[in-house]
Amino acid sequence: MITRSVLLKDLTIVVIGASGDLSLRKIFPAFYALFQQKLLPERFRIIGFSRTDMDNDTFRDKIKVFMLKEQPSVSELDEFLKRCYYCRGKYDEFQDYERMGELIRKLEGGNLSNKIYYLAIPPFLFLPVSNALAHSNLIHTQEEKGVWTRVVVEKPFGRDRESSDELTSGLQKVFREEQVYRIDHYLAKEVIQNLMILRFANLILEPLWNRQYIQNVRISWMEDIGIEGRGGYFDEYGIIRDVMQNHLLQILALVGMEQPIKLEADYIRDEKVKVLRCIPPITLSQLVVGQYGPGILQCRKCEMKHGYREEEGVPKDSITPTYAAVALFIKNRRWDGVPFLIRAGKGLSKRTTEIKIQFREVPGSIFTETAPQLTPNELLIQVQPNAMIALKIVNKIPGLSLVLGESNLDLSYESAFETRVPDAYELLLLDVIRGDKSLFIRSDELEAAWDIFSPVLLELEKKRIQPVVYPFGSEGPYTADLLASKYGTAW
Ligand code: BG6
Repeated sequence: MITRSVLLKDLTIVVIGASGDLSLRKIFPAFYALFQQKLLPERFRIIGFSRTDMDNDTFRDKIKVFMLKEQPSVSELDEFLKRCYYCRGKYDEFQDYERMGELIRKLEGGNLSNKIYYLAIPPFLFLPVSNALAHSNLIHTQEEKGVWTRVVVEKPFGRDRESSDELTSGLQKVFREEQVYRIDHYLAKEVIQNLMILRFANLILEPLWNRQYIQNVRISWMEDIGIEGRGGYFDEYGIIRDVMQNHLLQILALVGMEQPIKLEADYIRDEKVKVLRCIPPITLSQLVVGQYGPGILQCRKCEMKHGYREEEGVPKDSITPTYAAVALFIKNRRWDGVPFLIRAGKGLSKRTTEIKIQFREVPGSIFTETAPQLTPNELLIQVQPNAMIALKIVNKIPGLSLVLGESNLDLSYESAFETRVPDAYELLLLDVIRGDKSLFIRSDELEAAWDIFSPVLLELEKKRIQPVVYPFGSEGPYTADLLASKYGTAW
């Protein structure tokens, strides 16, 4: 929980890139949810900073739209909005930051407040913005009078190991590593947080959680939407940098790591780094890439969708993958030889994120003649759309003869828990306020993650490897199925 001393201190939050999609959809509603739950300090203010020209009232109306979805009480919402201010400015214009500094000092009214700078902007702006903040004396690098400054940065952190290192060292000129909070919002999703609990707070899984009993691990991330107007960004990054190198690798690290010494940020991150460092860089032979072409999305109503190359901001000859599947190996005593198959794709038939742990066949089974078609046990951990954990077991079908079938022992969050599931951003922002870095990426974790993907990313671009085109609304390219079957499985 949040300590009293944090709640008693003044807090100034500055959201840079305040008129962007992320700020409007996620960041402001998450701060509002914290406010409703009385998890923001008594004296706080949020300043939105971006290039759009608008006054405080227009800005408040703009963010309000996204909070109305939560059916707030009108007086509470007004109370929150009164604490939101807007400052227009160019991202690299020192004068604009100085103006913002004046506004902050005026709102602080003679007190020195704790400060959070949330950089909700593309990575190429991280350094110019940090430098401008430092130049305008808006950062306390050391705690002065018990007051701290923290900076939150969104992924992707660079395009490869080299550019990520440059970003890290550039940020370190302005902030100490302890001040930097690198967000990966998947870490705050309820089911992902539960991975450590599932593994280490239960006795029954751990003895089986290794190469002796597990045949493969599959992690699937699928979206039934395209790039949703983010052509400029996406074409520069592609699905491997957008989702795999961060969200999916983090999930893999939590599945594969050893138990941390204690439940503390650095001990948890030490274990994640260790397991990531045991993964050799992937090669082209372990990877397949795809790109969605035109197709029909058959959800509620059939809808014809554009291909990726027809999207706004995407060059007609783009080779940027919107789909990738890869087989990774963790070279350590626990996992050597076990394929970790990961796939991520946009423009597919459905939205889902799930982890499947496929156990090996029962050795010397006495049931192979009775039920030769049965598949081995599998643990399904579904992150979204429906949070659930299900263990597939073999069971006798009730009746007079011996017929075996597969059944599920399942835990659906919706029916098991009545509590509201908070949005990932609520927890992350609360953790920034209370200074808990367990769910944020440390710089060495980032390095290890880039080391796995950087060489193959560079090779894809250098050799201009053409992605296999798959229709929008399908299951992805056939080559991903071939990859899975190479390791004796299907997605
Ligand atoms: C973001 C990616 O990190 O995660 C997006 O940049 C993706 O491309 C999004 O759509 C998915 O997040 P969520 O929480 O909706 O699964």
